[in-house]
Amino acid sequence: MLSDDKRAKFLQLLKETTKDEWVWMNGYLSALTETLGALPPTATRVVGSAGEEATTAFLPAEVESVRSTPISCTVVYGTETGNSKKLSTEFVKKLKAAGHSAKIKSTEQYKLSDLEDESYFFVIISTHGDGDPPAAAKSFVTGLQERKDPLSNLKFAVLALGDTSYPLFCKTGEDVDSMLNTLGGTRIHELGKCDVDYEAVALPWIDDVVRKLAISSSNTVAAKTTANQKAAKPAGRAVYDAKVITNLVLNDVGATKSTRHIELKADSSVVYEPGDSAGFFAHNSESEVADVLRLLGLGKEDRIQWQGETWMAGDLLTKKLSIRFLPERVIKKYEDLTGKTIVPGRKDLDALLTDFKFDAGFDSKKIFEILEPMVPRYYSIASSPAAHGEKEVHLTVAELEIETRTGTKPGLCSGYLSSFAEGSSIQFFIQKNPSFRLPPPDSDLIMIGPGTGIAPFRSYLFERESTGGNGKNWLFFGERNFVSDFYYQTELQAFMDTGLLNRLNTAFSRDTKQKVYVQDRMEENAAELLKWIEEGAYIYLCGSKDPMSKDVDAKLIDILSRRTFHTEIDASDFLKELEESGRYKKDVY
Ligand SMILES: Cc1cc2nc3c(=O)[nH]c(=O)nc-3n(C[C@H](O)[C@H](O)[C@H](O)COP(=O)(O)OP(=O)(O)OC[C@H]3O[C@@H](n4cnc5c(N)ncnc54)[C@H](O)[C@@H]3O)c2cc1C
Ligand SMILES: Cc1cc2nc3c(=O)[nH]c(=O)nc-3n(C[C@H](O)[C@H](O)[C@H](O)COP(=O)(O)O)c2cc1C
Repeated sequence: MLSDDKRAKFLQLLKETTKDEWVWMNGYLSALTETLGALPPTATRVVGSAGEEATTAFLPAEVESVRSTPISCTVVYGTETGNSKKLSTEFVKKLKAAGHSAKIKSTEQYKLSDLEDESYFFVIISTHGDGDPPAAAKSFVTGLQERKDPLSNLKFAVLALGDTSYPLFCKTGEDVDSMLNTLGGTRIHELGKCDVDYEAVALPWIDDVVRKLAISSSNTVAAKTTANQKAAKPAGRAVYDAKVITNLVLNDVGATKSTRHIELKADSSVVYEPGDSAGFFAHNSESEVADVLRLLGLGKEDRIQWQGETWMAGDLLTKKLSIRFLPERVIKKYEDLTGKTIVPGRKDLDALLTDFKFDAGFDSKKIFEILEPMVPRYYSIASSPAAHGEKEVHLTVAELEIETRTGTKPGLCSGYLSSFAEGSSIQFFIQKNPSFRLPPPDSDLIMIGPGTGIAPFRSYLFERESTGGNGKNWLFFGERNFVSDFYYQTELQAFMDTGLLNRLNTAFSRDTKQKVYVQDRMEENAAELLKWIEEGAYIYLCGSKDPMSKDVDAKLIDILSRRTFHTEIDASDFLKELEESGRYKKDVY
């Protein structure tokens, strides 16, 4: 392989070096070869005069990454449902196995002032809402945005988690990647963007980074072994075909709202755990689609080209496109397209087309180019695979009523789900939530779930009843009126009778002059709550984000400030500690 001249130099070098240095060289070269093998096929290899590949052409970029000493890495994750945390844990494990020092922090724990001391900095972060950071990552992202001091010594890489169903796919990861770059950091690996089957992109991305950072010692073996894993083919999300077997209103006569209990039976076993949600793509209503078609001057069978496919206008508007509460970015595109000046604010398409009608002669089919696909809606699963069988999925769905410019409309998906007759067919998928799993069977559990927040706790209680365990259970539930809105009252009463549910506290806000909420019941039971917490109970919260979850947070801090244990840290830090250790979990929306 080597020319005589090179061979002589090589043997001379061997003569001049010790056995230990040979081991170092061996590790160095094997890591280097591994890195080169991973280069994309488009990379140009420079061919030397003797015809052999001149690998030295790659050295300037790769030599930096094949080092003789371990490096210090920080992996920060921003998550809502736990996927980014799971990947970060895996990443840190692999960095350590490759001989580096690596620490993991959540975006909440991470102090941005530590950035100047970082050398290798990795962020794994998802996108939620409409292109927003996870709730716990908001101040991390804002802090980065506001930062002025450059980070010229920082080497970084970002892995973004998202879902291609959303118009702003992986937006938060993109933003973080671009901010670190703008601040002067050196991007050592391209931004990775993961769809719903995130491991298909994430695991090879992690392996590539670990390989790039390989140390020339025996530890590289760990990196090399994983590097051989082939990228899994993206599988997409599993969609289940199901029948609606029950669809009933949980409220009784006199109720001022409507919440439904819906049971689905899938054709095959559904892979889910208590704490997961079911996801749905709703259909727009016939009447709303008819209005939009009329305003566009189109028939429902008119052919429309959309993203490389031919659709009938009616089907495209019914099944695919979002025509409600259009975001400002879509309104802006309508403004540009039609030349109309539009008052700011989100609008439904029917109102937009009525109030800001395009001029005669305008090609109304162009409107389809600016509309975005509908995004899924999620509903916490209220059933338990152990108790209800693996094909059944139960939901607790609050029917929304929205006052709009053109009249009262049902919430898009809650209205869609409510309209299903028993026996009709429906499709759904599972949105996993590894951050909201039942605690170990022998742990005590405090569940705070007013309104539809009760759904996952119904699942937990049935699961605990079926699978056993000695953990105690305490539920706080709240709604408007006892007589009409006590969801699952009979089941909860039965759980009390059998002793599965040790305590049940309810708050019906409209039964008394002075409104009473779950946090008031927590206050009344503060001493007992503190006792449970001191004895190691887990606290889980589910339901509306605002104001309920904020009020409950504030009440927990208030109650914890009266504790007599762990007096050395203040109550809000103590609650944060519970959150970080997984003993305080929230699934709020
Ligand atoms: C993880 C998770 C779990 C969830 N679990 C449950 C559950 O168990 N049960 C449950 O009932 N819900 C649950 N939700 C909420 C659920 O996903 C939906 O957000 C909810 O049902 C509303 O969706 P919708 O399509 O009916 O309403 P949408 O039509 O999307 O309307 C939602 C809101 O948008 C605004 N809006 C929409 N259109 C207009 C308009 N034209 N003008 C003015 N404002 C407008 C209003 O504020 C309205 O309340 C969960 C959410 C998440 C993320
Ligand atoms: C309510 C909700 C809103 C979401 N919004 C977006 C979005 O705007 N853009 C996107 O790319 N992904 C979006 N996603 C998908 C998540 O980013 C994806 O499920 C990711 O794997 C979650 O990772 P995490 O568990 O670390 O939070 C959304 C998911 C949910 C549940």
